[in-house]
Amino acid sequence: MKRIAVLTTGGDAPGMNAAIRAVVRFGINRKLEVMGVFRGWCGLINGDLRLFDSHSVSGIINQGGTILKTARCPEFHEEKYQERAFQTVKKNNIDGIVVIGGNGSFRAAHSFYQKYKVPVMGVAASIDNDINGVDYAFGADTAINTALAAIDNIRDTATSMERVFVVEVMGRDCGFIALSVALGGGCEDVLIPEKKYDLHEMCHAIVEGNLRGKVSWIIVVAEGAGSAVDIAKQIKEITTLETRPVVLGHVQRGGRPTAFSRDIALNLGKMAVESLLNGVTDKAVGLVAGKIALVDFETAIKKKEYNVDNMFNLIKVLS
Ligand code: F6P
Repeated sequence: MKRIAVLTTGGDAPGMNAAIRAVVRFGINRKLEVMGVFRGWCGLINGDLRLFDSHSVSGIINQGGTILKTARCPEFHEEKYQERAFQTVKKNNIDGIVVIGGNGSFRAAHSFYQKYKVPVMGVAASIDNDINGVDYAFGADTAINTALAAIDNIRDTATSMERVFVVEVMGRDCGFIALSVALGGGCEDVLIPEKKYDLHEMCHAIVEGNLRGKVSWIIVVAEGAGSAVDIAKQIKEITTLETRPVVLGHVQRGGRPTAFSRDIALNLGKMAVESLLNGVTDKAVGLVAGKIALVDFETAIKKKEYNVDNMFNLIKVLS
């Protein structure tokens, strides 16, 4: 193996730059040439790539986002575009690819590998932490801390003005961010895609609490479980309490990666290159039980299984 390429795809996650830095510098250390591909799979389709050196990744370790840019590239599912991407790989003598992204990125990588047998390794990056078989994808920790800081601020106004707040966080199919911030933020309730909920039951608990003298609530909702605006409207109608929605949105995707996000990103980036050099392919690297581990793409792209009940029940007991 002489030359590898690195790309970031799907939604950006804080720590992607640290991972790129590790892939480039570790690759160079192991006598590889490393090409940076811009805008994810689209860059491979369009031949948008260039050779990187050590200096190409200077001063980026602390920056959110990705210097390689990223994109969702639905056309990559079509054979003619995959074929164009393969031509770029051949033309540039690329012997292996490191894909930094989430389960959508790994699905594409898996399909590309199956068709063209170009060795490919994934690096688990996702603010949603929705990659199956991986306990922690990098980026999630930063996003959770960003959302938690916002919830702490909301708590001040919620208690001062004696209101109910419904705070919507990211997480289309996975409630991990919502559960983490609801637990860490001492929130009263949490609505996630993995659990059915009954709004009337929740409102009943709010009214009962209010009768006992409780005056403020923060209810966290993962975007995949509902809209904060709609839910807040219904809570106000049912309980008559002043209720406000807050949609945190893309603020959760940006910002300086935490030490934990950087640490995982750097180690996973290094491990992805090492794996390619050892002939490993069609797998993702992620944090499992506190250790860097390899997970088959086949597993990583399935719906995430994790201990939802543990976190969910603790939130309920402590609220
Ligand atoms: O990257 C994951 C994620 O942030 C999800 O939580 C969210 O549903 C989605 O991306 C939003 O994607 P986009 O920025 O493309 O609208």
